[in-house]
Amino acid sequence: MPPKPTSPPNRFIPSNLPILGAEEIAAVTEVLESGMLTHKSGSGTFVRRFEEAFAKFVGAKHVIAMNSGTAALHAALLAFDVKAGDEVIAPPFSFIATTNMVLLNGAKVVFADISPDNFNLDPAKVEAAITPKTRAILPVHLYGHPADMDPLVELAQKHDVRIIEDAAQAHGSKYKGRNVGTIGDVGCFSLYPSKVITTGEGGLLTTNDDELAETLQQIRTHGEIRPYEYVQLGHNYRLPELQAAIGVEQMKRLPVFLEKRKKNAEYLTSHLTDVKNIVRPTEASWATHNWYLYTIRILAPRNRDNVQKTLHTAKIGAAIYYEVPLHLTPIYRRLFQYKEGSMPVSEQAAKEVLSLPVHPALTEEERAWVVQQSLQALA
Ligand SMILES: Cc1ncc(COP(=O)(O)O)c(C=O)c1O
Repeated sequence: MPPKPTSPPNRFIPSNLPILGAEEIAAVTEVLESGMLTHKSGSGTFVRRFEEAFAKFVGAKHVIAMNSGTAALHAALLAFDVKAGDEVIAPPFSFIATTNMVLLNGAKVVFADISPDNFNLDPAKVEAAITPKTRAILPVHLYGHPADMDPLVELAQKHDVRIIEDAAQAHGSKYKGRNVGTIGDVGCFSLYPSKVITTGEGGLLTTNDDELAETLQQIRTHGEIRPYEYVQLGHNYRLPELQAAIGVEQMKRLPVFLEKRKKNAEYLTSHLTDVKNIVRPTEASWATHNWYLYTIRILAPRNRDNVQKTLHTAKIGAAIYYEVPLHLTPIYRRLFQYKEGSMPVSEQAAKEVLSLPVHPALTEEERAWVVQQSLQALA
């Protein structure tokens, strides 16, 4: 049964929206009143509490809070000493932070195309891209749907390379029952405001490897092991206590956020069943989606950009992630001379994808509006 017609919403419905309330405000106030603004030297406790809560949630032995997802990726690559002369295999269908961090370390990005099934690395393409210079594989769990990890882990073991999971969008996503970010050597999460949970800006590293955790902690603070004793190069990548306090409260909300996203995604799926010339998102048999993004493909002869315009006019923030695959952005074209047609699955996806709002701040009326207007735009 399609939803009853609804009146236009009072606001423009964004593709994602953080939910912050009195609890976050109280936690931030507590930090301000305490005067302990950093966890460095063991003063503030919120970073540690946030790390412990995320470790429990995700089932990782170690969690290291960082001040962005980008910092998390950079630190992971530094920890594995990825440098000039090395290659890292990554998908071209992602946010640019994924691969820019490889370049900032002086290494070369080798793109492997995505699978047509789930927008993530195609293991067969990864295998074909491996060379003696490969140091790491960087799968992205795009939109919150996990990449097919088993074949990637097998390849990594066979060729003795590392796996750095870009789980920036994948809090709560699972691969064969295991949380993503705990399957490769290290996981990198983002806490940017559009993400499943947020601290404003922030990131989290996850690992089960004791030695690696120690290295990552050192990289977070200038390679320091004791005050003013530096054993390697590092940065100031620490998450401030003010932000960690928000994170502690967001962790309490996370299960409800995930439940609401799932319900909203199911609602959209059930109402978009009969629409022709679109592909609705599904979960692979081994996947638990966190529904960070509900991304449909809009197939020819429909025009994706026109559908987006129609939905924007109806106050729905239908979003395109990503219009240009990374290998075709000006900087990567210049650096690597990738040509159009070299990553056909990613290039096709970039022309077809459109994400509809399923975030937990969506009201029932807004959700019905999204469905009703989408049905109209896709009629
Ligand atoms: C896939 C992906 N990787 C990396 C990042 C970088 O995270 P941040 O914005 O927290 O630096 C993001 C988020 O913006 C992302 O979506």
